Amino acid sequence: MPGLRAPSDYTNDPPRHPALVINSKEPFNAEPRRFDLVSSYVTPVEFFYKRNHGPIPIVDDIHKYSVTVTGLIEIPKDLYMKDIWKLPKYSITATLQCAGNRRTSMSKTRKVKGVGWDVAAIGNAVWSGAKLADVLELIGIPKNSQVTAFGGKHVEFVSIDKCKEENGGPYKASIPLTQATNPEADVLLAYDMNGEALNRDHGYPLRVIVPGVIGARSVKWLDCINIAAVECQGFFVQRDYKMFPPSVDWDNINWSTRRPQMDFPVQCAICSMEDVQMVKVGKIKIKGYAASGGGRGIERIDVSVDGGQTWFEALKFQKPGVSYVSDDASNDKWAWVLFEAEAEISQGTEIVAKAVDSAANVQPENVAVIWNLRGILNTSWHRINVRIGHSNL
Ligand code: MTE
Repeated sequence: MPGLRAPSDYTNDPPRHPALVINSKEPFNAEPRRFDLVSSYVTPVEFFYKRNHGPIPIVDDIHKYSVTVTGLIEIPKDLYMKDIWKLPKYSITATLQCAGNRRTSMSKTRKVKGVGWDVAAIGNAVWSGAKLADVLELIGIPKNSQVTAFGGKHVEFVSIDKCKEENGGPYKASIPLTQATNPEADVLLAYDMNGEALNRDHGYPLRVIVPGVIGARSVKWLDCINIAAVECQGFFVQRDYKMFPPSVDWDNINWSTRRPQMDFPVQCAICSMEDVQMVKVGKIKIKGYAASGGGRGIERIDVSVDGGQTWFEALKFQKPGVSYVSDDASNDKWAWVLFEAEAEISQGTEIVAKAVDSAANVQPENVAVIWNLRGILNTSWHRINVRIGHSNL
């Protein structure tokens, strides 16, 4: 691909913020510290988690870079950045969450395979770019299509990075054509993040953002869009990012029995404390985030300071100082909600948080019941052990 190339080693990876917690160096996978994550509603780019499967691609010449749209369409087309910039620009505040968020704590129940993550493989950004529905219309696929004239039902995004899971081939994923051509689904080909051009780690020059869906489908460094009859057959769609029951292990797994995971389930985590946290007797502040997939809002965040025997509700907000109500039309529908609560602590205890979304889905009490061999979607109640001692909380 002229303009964009994929190195085979990590020597040209970009510099990153030194405060990130590194979970794997090569490929680079890192998350912010808990308290950095909830210090703002919109996550600064340098503190946004970075999830990579290979070395970061390099743009040699942005004017030569193009995305090839091909597959089950009349005439394949190369779209240059100037073509994408010409389309109406939308800005959407959306939370991206890796399906592996909170994997480390799932692995404490039983071993799982995958990069370990604490609670910060999630971030909320303002993504700007063209709507995929507009891009597809440009190449002759009408809005709200279920199938193209040539039998296309899925939109596959192919990158250029070299991933060992793909035997050195690129990362790829797909979404249904109905979602891709629905302007209300807000799927973007994004070129800006928080008002600036994407940085290299987050997909410069162009990436997909699929709001409300696990981060794995938001393909970075887009090289090709392929209109296909079937969903993507790549590793990350067929042999990864699927949710299996606790009875499935590496001896009896049959990947084809499960659908690829799309929407993420309701989630929350306390970010103002580490596990274990020392506190002084008295008032403490409990802060964190809650999010649900598919555009569902957050109805409630329940907090307990006695291990889940009694509960009270936390305050929720998106805009600082403005109380959040889950069905308000002015909400950022695809974005997380931050929460805050105060409690009196007199002895060592377990602090717990669980969120309820607008469809009344609630997080499961125990991680054991949702354990799965790849350690994805750990949405169990978030628990913090608190001990009395010296602290600055
Ligand atoms: N796209 C490419 N090309 N390569 C990748 O490794 N990782 C995916 C997705 N898109 C990935 C990718 C995963 S698993 C996640 S969670 C998100 O990108 C992470 O996006 P971020 O690094 O911008 O936070």
